[in-house]
Order: sequence, then C-alpha cells, then structure tokens
Amino acid sequence: MSIMLLILLQLLVLVSCAPPRCDPGFRGQCKPTVEEKPKCTDVMLSYCDDMPYTQNMFPNILNHKTREDAEGSAEYLLLSVLEALLGGECNPDVRMLGCSVMAPRCEKEKVLKPCRTTCEAVRKRCSHAFDRIEMAWPYFLECDRFFVSDEEGCYDPLEGLRAEQNEEEVDGMETPPEYRDDTIKFNHHTNAQMISILKKTEEKCEDIARTYSIGRSIEGTELLVIEFSSNPGEHELLEPEMKYVGSMHGNEVLGRELLILLARHMCSEYLLGNERIQTIINTTRIHILPCMNPDGHDLAVSGLQDNNYSEDEEGEEERPRYDSSHVGQNNAQNIDLNRNFPDLTSIAYSRRRQRRYRTDHIPIPDSYWFGKVAPETYAVMKWIRSIPFVLSANFHGGDLVVSYPYDLSKHPLQRNMLSPTPDAKVFKLLARTYANAHESMSTSSARCGSSHGVSEKGTVNGAQWSSFAGSMQDFNYLHTNCFEVTVELGCEKFPAEDELFQGWHENFEALLTFMEAAHRGIKGIVKDEDGNAVKGAQISVRGIRHDVTTAKNGDYWRLLTPGVHIVTASAPGYAKAIKKVHLPGHMHTAGRVDFLLKKAELEPDNQQEEDSIPPVGSYDRFDPYNQYERYTLMADVTQNHPESAKKPWWWSYFILPESPEPTWLLKHH
Ligand SMILES: *[C@@H]1O[C@H](CO)[C@@H](O)[C@H](O)[C@H]1NC(C)=O
Ligand SMILES: *[C@@H]1O[C@H](CO)[C@@H](O)[C@H](O)[C@H]1NC(C)=O
Ligand SMILES: [Zn+2]
Repeated sequence: MSIMLLILLQLLVLVSCAPPRCDPGFRGQCKPTVEEKPKCTDVMLSYCDDMPYTQNMFPNILNHKTREDAEGSAEYLLLSVLEALLGGECNPDVRMLGCSVMAPRCEKEKVLKPCRTTCEAVRKRCSHAFDRIEMAWPYFLECDRFFVSDEEGCYDPLEGLRAEQNEEEVDGMETPPEYRDDTIKFNHHTNAQMISILKKTEEKCEDIARTYSIGRSIEGTELLVIEFSSNPGEHELLEPEMKYVGSMHGNEVLGRELLILLARHMCSEYLLGNERIQTIINTTRIHILPCMNPDGHDLAVSGLQDNNYSEDEEGEEERPRYDSSHVGQNNAQNIDLNRNFPDLTSIAYSRRRQRRYRTDHIPIPDSYWFGKVAPETYAVMKWIRSIPFVLSANFHGGDLVVSYPYDLSKHPLQRNMLSPTPDAKVFKLLARTYANAHESMSTSSARCGSSHGVSEKGTVNGAQWSSFAGSMQDFNYLHTNCFEVTVELGCEKFPAEDELFQGWHENFEALLTFMEAAHRGIKGIVKDEDGNAVKGAQISVRGIRHDVTTAKNGDYWRLLTPGVHIVTASAPGYAKAIKKVHLPGHMHTAGRVDFLLKKAELEPDNQQEEDSIPPVGSYDRFDPYNQYERYTLMADVTQNHPESAKKPWWWSYFILPESPEPTWLLKHH
C-alpha cells in the first residue's frame, strides 16, 4: 500500500508541477486582477470529476485562489490517496464530501454550499476508518464549519452516488449489501493487513467479537487477539475459554492465514445464522492470536524474496520449496519462541520421587528471569495466566501431525522417548479429535516430515518425536489449567497463495471440532456452606496427578475421557468433598459436577502436602525482576526513529515542499 501511495503522490506532484503556477506573461491569465468578480468555471480537478455538477468557483470555500492552488494543497493530496489510505472504505463518499468544499458547486455565479446533514451522516459512518489509521477527521470536513442547513439552501453532494447505488442494489438483490465486500480471498497478509482485518471483523460483529492487544513484538508490532463470545470482554460463569495461537515460528505461515480466515468466517457465518457457529460462540469464549511472531514473519517474507533467483535456475520442480528456509523461524532477537518458555518439565521430572508430587501450577523459577525472555514469550505467558483457559492449540508447519506434551524427554540422554503426561489419555483424545477431523492427517498416505516413523494416525508425543525444553505446550500444562497441543499443518512452511484454499479446506472442520472439544469432561462450581464461591480450590481426579483449580467465581473445567472417575474438591481450611462421576462416551457437553465444601477445623493432610507443594506465593511471583520494563523500553527504542516515532506511518507522504506541515492530520496535535 505504501508503495502505491508513493507512486500516486509522485504522479500528482508531476501533474501539479507541469503548468506554471502563475506566469504573468502568459495571456495574463492569472494576473492579480482582484477587482474582477469570480465566475463559475468548469470543474477541472480530476479527483472531483464525478460530482453531480459541472461548474465550480475559485476562490473555493477553503480560500484556494485558483485551481492550481487547490491541486497543490495537502487537502487535495489527501483526497487523491483516500482510497488507498482507508483501504477502499468510505470511498468515494469522503472524497466527494471533500470535493464539495474544494471544488464548490457554482450556479449563476454563486457558490452553493453542501448540506450539513450529509456531512454528519458520512462522518458518523466513516470517522472510525480515520481512527484506525490514527488520522484526525480532516478539518475541511468539519460539518459545522463548511456545511450549511436545508434552510440555508444546501444541496446534497452525494446525490450522484445515491442514484448509482440504487441501481446496483436492484442488480444485486441476492446478497444483502453489507456482505458484499466479504468475498474471502485466499492470499497472504502483511502484519498491517492482518491487524486491519481483525479490527474490521470486530466492527462488523461488534456484538460477539472484540480485539485486544496482549503486548508487542520486539520490533513493536501489536500482538492482537480477536475474541468471540456471546459476551465479549467478560468471562461468563461456567463458560469454557479456549485459544488458538498461530505462527510462533514466523516462517510457518499457514496457521496464521488459517486463523485470519477462521475469524472472518466465524463472524460472517454467525451473522448469516449458521447454527453450529452460533452455538459454539454462544457457549464458548474463543481467543485467536493469529500470529505470535510477526517480526519473524516479516523476515520470512523478505527471505523468500531473496530466494527468488535460485528457484528459476534450478527449474526441476514447478513448486518452489520454501521449507528449507529457516529464515524467520525465530523472533527478531533470534530467539526461538518455542524454546523460550520456562522449562517446568525438568522440574516436574525432578519431583517424581516425592511422595505426593504434583504436575500442575508449578511456579516459574526465579532463575528463568535471568535468561533472555523474548517480549513475545512474556506477553503470551502473562496472557495465559490471566484467563482461565481450558483448551488450546498452537499451529506450526513442516510436518503433518498433532503433537502433545511432554516435549521434553523424561530421560536426559534419550531424545526419542515416549514421555507422556499424567493426562496422556486426554491428550491423545484431543490430538485425535483434530487429526481425525482433518481431511487427511490421520491417513497414513498423508504423512510427511520427520514424525513419519513415530506418529500414530496423525498424532505423536512431542518427546518421542524429538525432545526439547522450554516449549509452549509443556508450559501451558505444567503452569496453568490449560491443555495445549501443537498442530503441524503440512510439509510446506510457506505455502504459495494458490495452496491456501486447499489448506483452509483441509483444516476448517478440524478447527471447529477442536473448539467444541472444550466441552468434553466435567465442569462445575465449588462453593462453601454460605454459598460463596471458592476461588483456587483444587479439583483432583483419582489416578491422575494433575489438578485443575477453580477460577475467580469458583467455576472449573476438567477435560476427561469417558468412563468412571473419582473426583475430589479441596481447599485449605475445608474438608474434602468427593464424588463419583460416570461420563458416557460421545457426550457433547461437559457433565455438571458441583461441590459444596464444609469448613474444617484442621486439615490432617496439610502437613504432608506442605512438603511437596510450594507456597502459593511463589506461583504468583511473575517477573520479579521487572524484565518486562526492560523489554518494553527496548521495543520503544527500536521504534524510536526520530520522526516516525511520534508520527504515523503516512505522515511523510503529506510533507510538501514549501508548504506548512499539515498538522491537522494528526490526532493528538
Ligand atoms: C445464540 O445467541 C443469540 C443471542 O442470544 C441468539 O439470538 C441465537 O439464536 C443463539 N443461537 C443459537 C444457535 O443458540
Ligand atoms: C519473485 O518471484 C515472483 C514470481 O516469479 C515475482 O512476482 C516477484 O516479483 C519476485 N520477487 C522479487 C523480489 O524478485
Ligand atoms: Zn514450528
């Protein structure tokens, strides 16, 4: 987009430079003969040639004396690039509004002024488009200042547009007009485009969607999440929360594109009344972070461009094989984000010999903070801790398989050893849920990549495949209530655009089915005798050394496989409550199991547990050394190129030689 703007701009400068501004010797055309009364002249401004009138007058309403003055102004420059700036939105409406001021309608040697009501309607509809690019509403479109009321004899500058639109609507009766711009395109998106699509989706589906930022990458790109829920922005009692995280390896782009498509799809299908999508959104809070590593993505894209030549010369295969490239896998500090989480798996292993060891809510060791913590990792850790997530998937490329924890081998010297969690059954079920719903992942013919020898119907234990420490899925499981799996979407890390549709087609069912899996197992509320919610109560399942804890309002979710389970709820100061639960197979909603905890004078178990469970305080310790401050400072510094730091990206386009800076474009001036 920026390049286009620049070209437009240069054209414009050429055009407006060509005729000399005012050459007194030239037919006397622009001699300052002020006495002469201004007359109606033909509209000559090329960006205003579709106005519903043919004659205008100079000086215009902004007091540009001549057409050339108007053409050389920053105001006109803005009109000429609006289409590109606003991504096609609100055009031609805003441009025509601008023309009604810059090339004002002239009849019988008098200027007619445009209607305030039209201006106000356009402003209401379009001011958000300016907000999005952090541009102020242009001063010359101030409705009170340059526009007048009906009584003062105004005309409607969008009259011509209305007539056109009415014709179109008759033609396109089939699709309601608000969906017309929604033809989903299968192409790669830049980070800016991705953010703009998510924000547009939020606007379009404001009742069920919300975007929010969880932080910034090291280069300062926003890590933007879009959330879908019947009540965006709020946790609802007993409603499970799940997340999708794309492209923590920036060069593995299919996940990112699939998640952008998914967000748009969920929004438009909800509006169209798709019952399945509506049910998912009405019963589940879904958070989608399409790209955890936007800087790596940028690097991968530029890496691809550098690779162009060799492809052609070899010419042995039609399809370029981008996979070989690791450029962009890591973040801009060259940190692999999927190795950058605290290694809690080693801690879990080291506790195995203890009598009552647990594999949940393991605190982050202080030593972790002395290492390099990427801001992307930091942001995601903070996010994971702040929401009671139940289920998650993160998306990669380079293989076609779903891997589940642990990623770190239980034997330090065996790099391909099956190393299951206490919840192996649940994880296998989750992995199979995705793989089976995928078009080809679970079939043997579709295998590719290095998981080939060890995977089973499209699923594999991470450590058995290839052991490593510091993975995100291990962290989710050992530090929070969330169960995460890693989905490898295909052999090509950077598929060509014409393969994106295929990718969507293969994964779309699996993406929905996996969301629905947040409703497996049991959920409920833990209360005390007075009916107060008990926060942080532990829900234990006999035979599984991994508890989940209740959220703020006492609600919990425990993913489980079908069968009989003995479930216990406990909290300090209360007697345990035990229930036997029978979960039939193919249950599609979580079984409701509530607990009532009675106060107990003395917990006989407490003494022993004290040995193995670290004090609660250390779990709450997050970033005790203020790494975050340091990293945000660094991110600010990298952004701090003197001019562009405070000014938006489009600012430099509007700086014209020998003209004052158009500070009126800036929002905070
Ligand atoms: C989802 O919730 C909305 C708003 O309450 C309601 O109009 C819609 O019918 C619900 N859809 C389904 C399938 O439950
Ligand atoms: C790379 O190749 C594609 C297709 O052959 C071409 O459109 C593109 O301009 C090339 N990019 C560069 C940077 O050479
Ligand atoms: Zn990866």
